Amino acid sequence: MIFIIAGVSGAGKTTIGKLLSEKLEFPFYDADDFHPPENVAKMAQGIPLQDEDRESWLQNLAKNIKNWNFQNGAVLACSALKEKYRKKLLGDPEQAITWIFLNSEYEVILNRLSARKDHYFKPSLLKSQFEALEIPGYGLHIDVNKSEDKIIEDIMNKLDHPKSKIGLLGLGVMGKSLALNLASRGIKVSVYNRHVDRFEVDIAKNFAEANKKDFNFPWFEDLHDFVDSLEKPRNILLMVNAGKTVDIVIKDLLPLLDKGDLIIDGGNSHYKDTIRREQELKENGLLFMGTGVSGGEEGALKGPSIMPGGSKEAYKRVGRFFEKIAAKDPEGKPCCTHVGPDAAGHFVKMLHNGIEYGEMQLIAEMYHYLRFSLTKGPGEIAVLFRKWNLEMKSYLLEISADILETKEGDEFLIDKILDAAKQKGTGGWSTNAALELGVPFDTITAAVMARNISAKKKERQKAMDLYGVSSVKENRTQESELSELFSAYKTASIINHAIGFDLLSVASREYDWDLNLSEIARIWTNGCIIRSVFMEDLIVIFREQPDKNILTHPEIVADIKNNRKTLTKVTGEALVSGIPVPVLSAAANYLLGYFSGQTSANMIQAQRDYFGAHTYERTDKPRGEFFHTNWKPAN
Ligand code: 6PG
Repeated sequence: MIFIIAGVSGAGKTTIGKLLSEKLEFPFYDADDFHPPENVAKMAQGIPLQDEDRESWLQNLAKNIKNWNFQNGAVLACSALKEKYRKKLLGDPEQAITWIFLNSEYEVILNRLSARKDHYFKPSLLKSQFEALEIPGYGLHIDVNKSEDKIIEDIMNKLDHPKSKIGLLGLGVMGKSLALNLASRGIKVSVYNRHVDRFEVDIAKNFAEANKKDFNFPWFEDLHDFVDSLEKPRNILLMVNAGKTVDIVIKDLLPLLDKGDLIIDGGNSHYKDTIRREQELKENGLLFMGTGVSGGEEGALKGPSIMPGGSKEAYKRVGRFFEKIAAKDPEGKPCCTHVGPDAAGHFVKMLHNGIEYGEMQLIAEMYHYLRFSLTKGPGEIAVLFRKWNLEMKSYLLEISADILETKEGDEFLIDKILDAAKQKGTGGWSTNAALELGVPFDTITAAVMARNISAKKKERQKAMDLYGVSSVKENRTQESELSELFSAYKTASIINHAIGFDLLSVASREYDWDLNLSEIARIWTNGCIIRSVFMEDLIVIFREQPDKNILTHPEIVADIKNNRKTLTKVTGEALVSGIPVPVLSAAANYLLGYFSGQTSANMIQAQRDYFGAHTYERTDKPRGEFFHTNWKPAN
């Protein structure tokens, strides 16, 4: 605990600092005592100090602050007039410092200084101090034009109720977990939840109450008080439903905020909304960050993967908080990085979810085939998934095994779950983005469509009666068949990742985001839903060949060459046995399309030219020359 009493000379730093140190029972230090003799001499002669003079002094102080912090704490009186001096005092790594700024008018201080006789500071230097003074938005600000007792009382009051570093608005499942995560890392957070009669009553109060043993959450239902509880410039993290709600909340907040305040949208917002919102807030002098957060309730609590977009300035402000609460990659670095400008963070999160849709559906297809065609029981499939996961280390495969082992009484819970999937949009938005940018997007689109068809439960049941197809396989399963299934799954998963990252790479060029795909893979190695050992391979693959489709990487080529026939075989067998495997077959088709030197598109071009004179390019002429043929056979 370090308290720095800052302000111009004559503001009362030493007197107040000593009184405060007695009150808090921490030792007191005066930064003036750490000046080298040359500086003292200059000041005594009335020569203002230059930045070069201050360098060694600040370094020495920073070193001492670090030591005092280890020894429990201290109160230090130090002018710290400029932000760059204050930064130096923080040291590296930064120390937690409570800044107490003693403020007053020039004339008041001048009068005080003129009355002082036993001090080497000359009142004539006061003017230059006021000119140098940069009053920050953070810390406690105390008006010193009052008695010493009153000043100490003010400071103690404010220390008992210090402003929060960040405000979290929206205490749903993710909001609560993030608030707890922030607080557990020593970051003071105010929490707000709206009051809606009968539906959202006492949410913030109950949350603060339930956690009061461990943390002190200032809680609010009044937006004005919530905003007022935050250190300036303010940082507000919105954890509300994506869509209209975000706009409504921003509209309510706007009149309460000051220029330079920052709003962070931590929900799964559409990236185009994020581009618009950042622009609108910029016009109001505010910063905005669209930030992807992945990991569900547990991840948010213990360490999510965080994908912040927006300006570098905004990241500089809150990046350290995010890095503190994020999961750690295998090397211990935070699974959080400044992804890129404007909507890069939300676009990357959308693609995370796109890949998530593909991976989930792929596992669901494996389960479906094993269960209803190869007639394995849920317990047996769980054992198989766990075996596969020794190699894959995939979070989604791990939870799928847990799910398959879960029973209600004697029955497996999976059998009681209605097979109609819901979705909140990110998968479909990814497909839309791929369509807009002309990127092949087979597996993820197939996964979205699989959810769409699953939702037509009634219609499917009627159709089942009409067609009466059974999907039970006649032959018993061989061990070799299971290992083929694993190869097909692994290969399709690689292709699904290739497709997701390909769209990231194209979008990065289109929107000038300069996405670092290796770094994105790194922050997806832990904390997020699609974490797996393959993400660790992707860090290296994208380092070796940034922005190229991973299917061109020599190791992937070798792997896929070995397994591609198995992928096609298993896809065929599943389809023949009556099990839909949309993602598996989309992966097989994408792969065939991807490495086909010759596709069927010459026929498409000819058809277009036939009925619409759309013209075509020729293999025997340079690209860019277009031809038209009068196709109709002569009678
Ligand atoms: C995550 C998840 C999370 C959410 C999905 C669910 O990364 O933590 O992706 O964001 O659970 O968006 O999406 P659907 O409801 O569309 O499946």
